[in-house]
Amino acid sequence: MRILYVIGTRPNFVKTAPVIGVLRRRHPEGRHTIVHTGQHYDRLMSEVFLSELGVPAPDFMLEVGSGSHAGQTARTMERLEPVLADEKPDLVVVPGDVNSTLAAALTAVKMGIPVAHVESGLRSFDLTMPEEVNRIVADRFSEWLFLHSPEAVTNLRAEGIPEERMHMVGNTMIDTLVALEERFRTAGSAARLGVDPGSFLLVTLHRPALVDGSLLGETVSQLAALARQMPVVFPVHPRTRKMMEGLQPDAPGLLLTDPLGYLDFLSLVADAGAVLTDSGGIQEETTYLGIPCFTLRDNTERPVTVTSGTNTLLGLDPQAIARIPALLTGGPRTPPSPPPLWDGRAAERIADVILS
Ligand code: UD1
Repeated sequence: MRILYVIGTRPNFVKTAPVIGVLRRRHPEGRHTIVHTGQHYDRLMSEVFLSELGVPAPDFMLEVGSGSHAGQTARTMERLEPVLADEKPDLVVVPGDVNSTLAAALTAVKMGIPVAHVESGLRSFDLTMPEEVNRIVADRFSEWLFLHSPEAVTNLRAEGIPEERMHMVGNTMIDTLVALEERFRTAGSAARLGVDPGSFLLVTLHRPALVDGSLLGETVSQLAALARQMPVVFPVHPRTRKMMEGLQPDAPGLLLTDPLGYLDFLSLVADAGAVLTDSGGIQEETTYLGIPCFTLRDNTERPVTVTSGTNTLLGLDPQAIARIPALLTGGPRTPPSPPPLWDGRAAERIADVILS
């Protein structure tokens, strides 16, 4: 069997690394081709992740880079098409919900190549999020839908997706976390940054709805104010860094860093007093690790992290940041109870389905 994996962004690498690893091990006679679209290209956003996660060097680098949604998607499709024509894969595997996912699914389906979508069925029901559009299209055109939470089944049924295309396998992002837990638990990133474990708020923000407009200024002011009560560590995504130009706050206790590698970042998550984010994956990682997570969005496509995890939706409201210290004094933390099948073996289940 010829399997071709299309990856392009940080979260893609984390979700796909275990799938590539397991399928290569269990199907060594097959051809495994990795295509990196180049949606993320800075060393700290790509190379560092791939090497820490043990992803083999990509066979094809499409180098599509940044741009408008149409430009980025179109460039990916145009550059992927000849690769698929030459490689003739039996299956194209796409993870997540980024523009690379959408472009790869569309290119493959139009060439009659079956698509497998990892992390299928998530819905925020907010079509202003680019990711929501990407998810719906990828799911609609994928032959194999790999799911990690019960809501995904409900969402896909409501869209008329046939039952036989759905496979509840669990969460491959958690596979990566489990595989590297020993390494990040001993990475000591908090000490290197000079903050005490358990004391600090770890922040990541990069969604256009929050960082591309006027809300970013208010958010940074709120973080600077909060940093007087608890240290704030904020590794800044390049999109956010660009939008923060002219907003560099000089607040003691607020530590802005470059984007971090996987091990450094997970080391900080595990040692954080709490996490503030608008990312999807981090809502899941904090749920698994039992770290309180505050999500600065009006909705989440991952409600299981609220109902059976540690996630609290604050709303798309920077002023809600001031409530975090009070929300944290809610008594002793309950031990983490990850959703079913978030156990480190999701990629094995994906391989069971694909190889059968
Ligand atoms: C993308 C995904 C988002 C995902 C996020 C994870 C889409 C529509 N968005 O958002 O769903 O949560 O990745 O990080 O696919 N840039 C760099 N260097 C890089 C990459 C980006 O400087 O290596 C800067 C560029 O200015 C670029 C901007 O960041 O224009 C945005 O990058 P892009 O990939 O378009 O979207 P993300 O915000 O990273």
